[in-house]
Amino acid sequence: MTALNESSFFTEENSAEIVIARNNNVKDERLNQIMESITRHLHAAVKEIEPSQEEWMAAIQFLTSTGQMCDSWRQEYILLSDVMGVSMLVDSINSRRPIGATENTVLGPFHLEGAPDMEFGANICLDIKGEPMVVNGRITDVSGRPLEGVKLDVWQANDEGFYDVQQKGVQPDFNLRGVFHSRPDGSYLLIGVKPRHYPIPNDGPVGQLLNKLGRNNRRPAHLHFIISAEGYQKVTTHIFVSGDPYINDDAVFGVKESLLRDFVHIDDEVKAAEYGVKNPFYKVEFNVVLAEANSQ
Ligand code: BEZ
Ligand code: FE
Repeated sequence: MTALNESSFFTEENSAEIVIARNNNVKDERLNQIMESITRHLHAAVKEIEPSQEEWMAAIQFLTSTGQMCDSWRQEYILLSDVMGVSMLVDSINSRRPIGATENTVLGPFHLEGAPDMEFGANICLDIKGEPMVVNGRITDVSGRPLEGVKLDVWQANDEGFYDVQQKGVQPDFNLRGVFHSRPDGSYLLIGVKPRHYPIPNDGPVGQLLNKLGRNNRRPAHLHFIISAEGYQKVTTHIFVSGDPYINDDAVFGVKESLLRDFVHIDDEVKAAEYGVKNPFYKVEFNVVLAEANSQ
């Protein structure tokens, strides 16, 4: 590499170095580090790919339409980050936890603030559609001590694979959403419907990209949780239906082995009546282990 001096002009060889050197008045060291790394990797990729002008314009056009698809509700850039595995990578880096603590996965675009508070054992399905599902478990710290009053914010798609916010006027508002709190023994219980796999939003540039790449656009069936308690790390996670056909091909790479669960089919009138659900039903156990804040 040729040494740079004040009068060096841009060349194909020194491209990254000359751009990085221009940033030498930056005050923010972190910004400097980020821009240096991005510049090096981006220039290296361009040198490897050697795009034609038409290909570069197509890339710019793709990013432009990704931005144009965004509004206060739709975030196509997050979807792009999701399907490129970057959301999961950033999440992995930022949620390193002690062994045994419940793992995080991707948040997704369908969480809503302000879901209704629910009692132990309440049903979050407001339109009585789908096959009933009983979810129960205990919340403990890493040493197994039960945690009381832990907040579980739960949301899921219906049995056709749509969230309430995707079917306004079809599903009741806040259908399949609720906020629960663990009891003194750490237990919680909720009723929902057995989820099924569904496509991520695919009517924009990210959907077109997946199509061109010959990639699946579905997520395996899952139930979302945000679990939080004072003094503990917040867990944003799912449980996945083990055996779902898309378990090994999640469009956004969210599946972790520790989050797979058996959704057991139960045909028992007495048990169904105890839970207040139609027989037959599904039952799944999800015990949650919270790591203390600042532990790794
Ligand atoms: C979801 O599970 O709700 C989701 C996650 C990432 C992208 C799209 C949907
Ligand atoms: Fe989801």
